Amino acid sequence: MTVQTVIETRVKGLTFATIPAGEGLAKALAMPRGDIIDLISDSKLKGRGGAGFPTGLKWNLAAAEKRTPKYLICNADEGEPGTFKDRVILTDYADLVIEGMTIGARAIGAALGLIYLRAEYAYLKPHLEEVIEARRGQGLLGKNIGGVDGFDFDVVVGLGAGAYVCGEETALIESLEGFRGEPRNRPPFPVVSGFLHRPSVINNVETLAWVACILAKGAEWFKSSGTATSTGRKLFSISGDCARPGVYEFPFGITIAELLEEVGGENAKAVQVGGASGRCVPRSAFSRRIAFEDVPTGGSIIVIGPGRDMLEVAHNLLEFFVDESCGQCTPCRLGNAKLLEGVEMLMEGTCTSEYLHDLRALCNTMQVASKCGLGQTSSVAFCSILDSFGDEILGHAGRVR
Ligand SMILES: Cc1cc2nc3c(=O)[nH]c(=O)nc-3n(C[C@H](O)[C@H](O)[C@H](O)COP(=O)(O)O)c2cc1C
Ligand code: SF4
Repeated sequence: MTVQTVIETRVKGLTFATIPAGEGLAKALAMPRGDIIDLISDSKLKGRGGAGFPTGLKWNLAAAEKRTPKYLICNADEGEPGTFKDRVILTDYADLVIEGMTIGARAIGAALGLIYLRAEYAYLKPHLEEVIEARRGQGLLGKNIGGVDGFDFDVVVGLGAGAYVCGEETALIESLEGFRGEPRNRPPFPVVSGFLHRPSVINNVETLAWVACILAKGAEWFKSSGTATSTGRKLFSISGDCARPGVYEFPFGITIAELLEEVGGENAKAVQVGGASGRCVPRSAFSRRIAFEDVPTGGSIIVIGPGRDMLEVAHNLLEFFVDESCGQCTPCRLGNAKLLEGVEMLMEGTCTSEYLHDLRALCNTMQVASKCGLGQTSSVAFCSILDSFGDEILGHAGRVR
């Protein structure tokens, strides 16, 4: 069975399929702008792009800005290793995403929406443009949307630059403006000074689709699943050593063990939760819950089977970061290369325990001193592998001098 077939068979039954088209936007257009944001805040929706920032709070900050024009950007870069749920959403539920963008634009007062589409998803651009054109024809984009005088909003699609760091919101903005995709200093945050140095909201594809659902079905409906802190349901991209990989929807709060049972990964030795920048959770911790307050994730779950060498896993992840560091700041540019070199020394048996200690200190430095989320999180997997698989790694004869 090809990966594509697997994905198609696992996405059936998503909540998105049950939401009547246009209901969320129709309700939003009948509400004062502030009430739309209050509803999203009340739902406790947190961003599905990884960091889990409260969507209502982000919108409130942008709405409070006086400078115009404002922009609403849909982050469809989906570069985190092991993530492919946004591709499925854009393929099957593009209308819902653009409806969510339109609701967001109404709430914050944005004039233009931009979809930053991962370069490898270029084949989806014509599809998205067709959906956008059809919505213009239905009066759901363009001037006086839905017959509301003065509500003008349109959406365009821009292609990504093929770099992981361009998913980081400020690098994304640089890239959208036609510059090299390198993160900016924050503050100012994009809600104050984003695209073209104007107030901008950046939201993940899935976040925007849930916005349309919440407007249609209400905050209580959304909060009826998930945990008190991590409300609602979430899409997961599940890959690796399991019998049934694919895109799944589960409520926040599901334990890792329960999730593995669903996907046929019960034998796993570990799970990499949150992609390359996430943490490696060992079998002994499979009772932990997937939630922002326990084990957070933007949706990438990579199952690691019993036969895997954990040093090989760490090597693979660090090679990715050495390639993808934009090189702007030293802790990330040199730190990832040093960690990779350390893993290679461990493999060759030339790493001393003192040097391993220094590498751990380097991880801390990278986490506090790197400029953006890439360098701040790239050592997390290495540290968690050392913490949980120290015996396997250090027990190999000759690995530590
Ligand atoms: C290196 C890096 C890559 C990122 N890649 C993505 C991405 O591909 N998609 C995404 O939605 N967020 C990504 N993010 C998070 C974004 O910066 C931002 O927090 C997110 O788009 C906000 O949307 P949300 O609040 O709806 O989650 C990335 C962050 C970092 C540091
Ligand atoms: S942390 Fe890494 S990716 Fe981010 S700005 Fe610094 S060098 Fe670039």
